Amino acid sequence: MSEAHPIEALKALEAEALAAISSTEDAHALEDVRIRYLGRKDGRISLILRGLGALPADERPAVGQEANRVKDVVNGALEERVRVLLSPRGATSEDLTLPARRPWKGGLHPVTQAVDEIWGIFRDLGFTRARGPEADTEWYNFVALNTPLDHPAADEQDTLYLLDSVLLRSHTSPVQMRTMERYDPPLRVIAPGWVYRRDTYDATHTPAFLQIEGLVVDEGVTFVDFKATLAEFARRYWGPGTRVRFRPSFFPFTEPSAEVDVKRVITREDGTTEETDWLEIMGAGMVDPAVLENAGYDSERYTGFAFGMGPGRIAMLKHHVDDLRTFFDDDVRFLSQFAS
Ligand code: DAH
Repeated sequence: MSEAHPIEALKALEAEALAAISSTEDAHALEDVRIRYLGRKDGRISLILRGLGALPADERPAVGQEANRVKDVVNGALEERVRVLLSPRGATSEDLTLPARRPWKGGLHPVTQAVDEIWGIFRDLGFTRARGPEADTEWYNFVALNTPLDHPAADEQDTLYLLDSVLLRSHTSPVQMRTMERYDPPLRVIAPGWVYRRDTYDATHTPAFLQIEGLVVDEGVTFVDFKATLAEFARRYWGPGTRVRFRPSFFPFTEPSAEVDVKRVITREDGTTEETDWLEIMGAGMVDPAVLENAGYDSERYTGFAFGMGPGRIAMLKHHVDDLRTFFDDDVRFLSQFAS
């Protein structure tokens, strides 16, 4: 090999190394190329760098500069090629330092989350869980709950009948009666479950939805216990600054009856706070003595309170969703926002 000028030799090596790099097909071959040109012991570019001392002093700076430039170019090409070889599609724009994309593992539905959170609060307050059948009789769904069959709530228009007097329960309140029949007081139960109504499917109604029923019966249960328990629940669920209001209402199975509203404190992004409008979260009341008697309880001795709420509605209020159907449409892009 004739002794070319070192700068010429470097330019030739540069071209040769770049060609070798771009023709590699795997990381091993690429490592061989790196060693051939830049290996510390006898890489061909490394040898030139190491031989600088033997050159005439006036040539050294220019050759040194060129050798370093070629070394940088070749190193850059090696890095780029590693990226290409390791990327699955061979795309050069792939950034291998990015964290791996996690597979979507699924999550709990926002309404299921609301049921779990609500149930969790009542469990901490000493309640146990109860359940009853979704297909029930007129007696449990209406009559035992002090609701005569000619009452508007018992209207066939609203209730899905299976047989003559067998229906899909229109609320979870029949679980009150079934629980009282099975157990003696004291009772403190929570009963979440599906209920059914002949409703059109729109932004605030679905023909099947979840309710959560609550019932407390014992000696000496008063309106104070009723208000304190539900206010405590509301503050644990909606936050400590929440205001709670009991608005007089009517349900056949409670006397007196109330609708419970909350006024939430919302913290804005800049840290300032704002109160919401009053939001209705449940129906409730002191259990009507006639209902206790229907269950075989002595209404002179025992008193109690009951409440019923819709976790779907509560989830809508919590997440500021204004169309209930978005919870039922099974669009994972929408639902995955709520996954914890
Ligand atoms: N069952 C009622 C409904 O579906 C809700 C309700 C109101 C439940 C008052 C109760 C109660 O236990 O005390 O609209």
